[in-house]
Amino acid sequence: MKKILVLHGPNLNMLGIREPGVYGTVSLSAIEHNLRLLAKELSMEIESLQSNHEGELIDRIHQAYGVMDGILINPGALTHYSYALRDALASVHLPVVEVHLSNIHQREAFRHVSVTAPVSLGQISGFGDYSYELGLMALHRHLNKEVR
Ligand code: DQA
Repeated sequence: MKKILVLHGPNLNMLGIREPGVYGTVSLSAIEHNLRLLAKELSMEIESLQSNHEGELIDRIHQAYGVMDGILINPGALTHYSYALRDALASVHLPVVEVHLSNIHQREAFRHVSVTAPVSLGQISGFGDYSYELGLMALHRHLNKEVR
């Protein structure tokens, strides 16, 4: 069974409360619940962590080396400037899918840049909580070598 590390960056613990007009009203625990149901359907196992601390996310990425099969990550604002997170993702030789609830390319200019996308298989942005499910499906297909 493929094991996926699901990471949520800063402020994503506030989903449901935080700027609902931008991020919707779904809580992080509801997102996690749906993701677990989907993982089960796809015969995948997920382990997840939300952290407001860059170093904690980096430590968890390092721990995934040789243990997990892929990483699904919403790096939050770290997306736009964390070279340390980018380097951590590039260190562990794992396929990474980056997801965002909002369409970052439709928003402020500083959000148009992702320093993590270049070390990811791809980025899914703008589909609300469904972005996570699309991301997990993309990893599933990649890991099962169905990429066309
Ligand atoms: C986000 C987009 C980021 O720009 C922002 O800082 C977030 C959430 C998203 O999921 O849309 O925290 O990653």
